[in-house]
Amino acid sequence: MDVDFTDIYVDDEILESVESVLRSTRYIKGPELEAFEEAFARHCGVEHAVGVSSGTSAILLALQSVGVGEGDDVFVPGHTFFATVSPVLALNANPVFVDIDPETYTMDPEDLIRAIESSDHPTAVFPVHIYGQMADMSRISEIAEQYDLKVVEDACQAHFAERNGDVAGTIGDAGAFSFYPSKNMTVAGDGGMLMTDDDDVAEQARMLRNHGRNEVGEHVDLGLNYRMDEVRAAVGNEQLAHIDEWNTARNQAAQTYSRLLADVDEITTPFEADGAFHVYHLYVIQAPDRDKLQSHLEDQGIDTGIHYPTPAHEHEAVVERRGESSLPTTEDLADHILSLPMHPRISEKEIEYVCDTIEEYYR
Ligand SMILES: Cc1ncc(COP(=O)(O)O)c(C=O)c1O
Repeated sequence: MDVDFTDIYVDDEILESVESVLRSTRYIKGPELEAFEEAFARHCGVEHAVGVSSGTSAILLALQSVGVGEGDDVFVPGHTFFATVSPVLALNANPVFVDIDPETYTMDPEDLIRAIESSDHPTAVFPVHIYGQMADMSRISEIAEQYDLKVVEDACQAHFAERNGDVAGTIGDAGAFSFYPSKNMTVAGDGGMLMTDDDDVAEQARMLRNHGRNEVGEHVDLGLNYRMDEVRAAVGNEQLAHIDEWNTARNQAAQTYSRLLADVDEITTPFEADGAFHVYHLYVIQAPDRDKLQSHLEDQGIDTGIHYPTPAHEHEAVVERRGESSLPTTEDLADHILSLPMHPRISEKEIEYVCDTIEEYYR
């Protein structure tokens, strides 16, 4: 099942925008970034969008700008890509791992309370909207308020996902998006966006992304270079015009998968929470003998993935620094998940082929 992604992501408008930036010779801190930030903020319904060099930079600067620092406990789910955790470690803060809800695979609010109550220095909660579905932000925000915690959202996989009218990345003190090439929208390279309604957080993040430099050119804090360049911003701005259509296509493809797999009793299809608009960055099933099923699909020409085979809390880089954690639901899930082919132009015929192959395997 070969996919020509140029057909999806490269059109005349994008090529014209890129050419115009290249000819302008204005490659950083120019009008394209300003326009992309403004358009992205408007699309999300927040005050400020700060374009940066990657999702990881957006996370790092979001945590730093809300005040997370050395020795602070940051509550994170173990079921996530490692980049949720590395910025916490880079700030010399402590990632404190929280288990997931077995249906949505997002942070379990009740386990969050357990983790907070056993923490000496609770500072921030950092839920992840994994695979394109929002965590239960209304319950998590309530808990954060009760314990006086900052809230930062990892929305790197969830551009414009919604839950009960809330948009991913806009609920907490700050949110982070990634534009890595496999994401629901990209900038044709690395890029990220930090979102916030808080003027001070935005000002701090803008400073930190540019060597800690303020508007009058003084270096008042220790920042590095986390800027997004003009070519990336131009591509991002063009892609923003398509993201709603692409998200709807992904969601429809997911409904087709779930309908066709409904009678395969061995498979667990994704669960959508009440009031959720799931943007299906990934369509992830659970299968009892996942590795064998994956090889069988590969033999039939179907590429799949495992996101992620090792939970974040079990990686050596974490264990060495912070010791071991036990998250039974997360650990069990890692042994069974399988991501099926998903992109905005996947056809009904391709989905049928995948589902028929799975059904045959279990028959
Ligand atoms: C959940 C999650 N967090 C953080 C990141 C980091 O984003 P980036 O690769 O743009 O640094 C990614 C994507 O790679 C991700 O999926």
